[in-house]
Amino acid sequence: MQRTCVIGMGPIGNNHATAYTQCECAELVGVCDKNPERAKKAGEKYGVPYFLDAQQMLDALKPDICSVATGGYEYSSDHCEPTLQALEAGCHVLGEKPISNSLKDAKLMVDTAERLGRCYGIDLNHRFTPAARQAKKWQDDGRIGELLFCNMALWIGKFMPLDSVFYHLKALNPHSVNIMQYFCGPVKEVSCFAMKASGRDIYSTSSINMRFECGAVGHLTSSYDIKRGHPMERCEVAGVDGRFIFEDMWREAVLYPADSWVKEVYTNPVFDGFAGFYDTFKDRIHTFVRQVEAGARPEEIDGSGKEGLEASRVIHAAIQSIKENGAVIQVSSITE
Ligand SMILES: NC(=O)c1ccc[n+]([C@@H]2O[C@H](COP(=O)([O-])OP(=O)(O)OC[C@H]3O[C@@H](n4cnc5c(N)ncnc54)[C@H](O)[C@@H]3O)[C@@H](O)[C@H]2O)c1
Repeated sequence: MQRTCVIGMGPIGNNHATAYTQCECAELVGVCDKNPERAKKAGEKYGVPYFLDAQQMLDALKPDICSVATGGYEYSSDHCEPTLQALEAGCHVLGEKPISNSLKDAKLMVDTAERLGRCYGIDLNHRFTPAARQAKKWQDDGRIGELLFCNMALWIGKFMPLDSVFYHLKALNPHSVNIMQYFCGPVKEVSCFAMKASGRDIYSTSSINMRFECGAVGHLTSSYDIKRGHPMERCEVAGVDGRFIFEDMWREAVLYPADSWVKEVYTNPVFDGFAGFYDTFKDRIHTFVRQVEAGARPEEIDGSGKEGLEASRVIHAAIQSIKENGAVIQVSSITE
């Protein structure tokens, strides 16, 4: 049984806490937020001690696993300090995406976890679904063959004022880039165009071209500008022997084999299927707890800190490309 805590009790930290209470091998033992109202409300909701200071909680409760669901500038600048505190306190850490808005901080967190031999995962929840696993199985079973291309798209409406011109790329795209890397491996180079939609002062819609190290090519379209979109996410991966699409994370996955007119379809079941977006958190968080409980080595963690860092490096390369009007940027040239 893993004793778990959550730092950062906004809406997403509450998702983490709820997921821990629903996991057969986790016990939620404490919550923390700098904001006294949020800390108290969460402590009362979950019936656990609440703290205003992360170090005090870590010292008092000595959890095995700690979630870091803080936010900050570009929705991620606050992750670094509590992540380092939790790792130094001996915890395995599950952090929110993006790993950090700063690659320097992200690397420090990944290096610290490695130095201390702690498991470090990122909440890349969009691919922790039965549909994504089915797509991966088709790929692993050789049903699509040699990789050719990956087309990925994610669009949501986010219209409140945001704190940086690159907020949309940094905060939204880690999910999509990680999904593309999950199927196609590391990205070698990128080129990006982006637009500021009417009334916007940030790059709110973007188009990134990619070449993967394996030679396949990819494309990611993402937007904060569509008022409402159904579906909101789509991933298509093609090889010489077939092509699959999985839509809206958990709703449906379809395989189009190249040697048959008959397609295979996975559809989310009404009974025992995913009921909504929260279930992606539940699946991702439970997967992390179960891996830790089973004694997984840090390098075996699915959706690791390293994966989070690699996704952010690709995004920083895309941002560099925007600054250079669509120039091709080598991901290996992006260090900080
Ligand atoms: N995985 C997903 O699908 C998904 C979706 C939305 C947001 N997110 C991510 O989740 C994170 C949290 O999002 P949110 O909307 O709940 O943010 P939020 O800003 O509403 O909440 C963050 C909370 O963290 C607290 N905090 C910051 N630093 C702290 C510290 N050192 N110690 C204690 N408390 C601290 C703040 O007081 C705040 O209450 C963000 O990184 C965001 O990018 C992930």
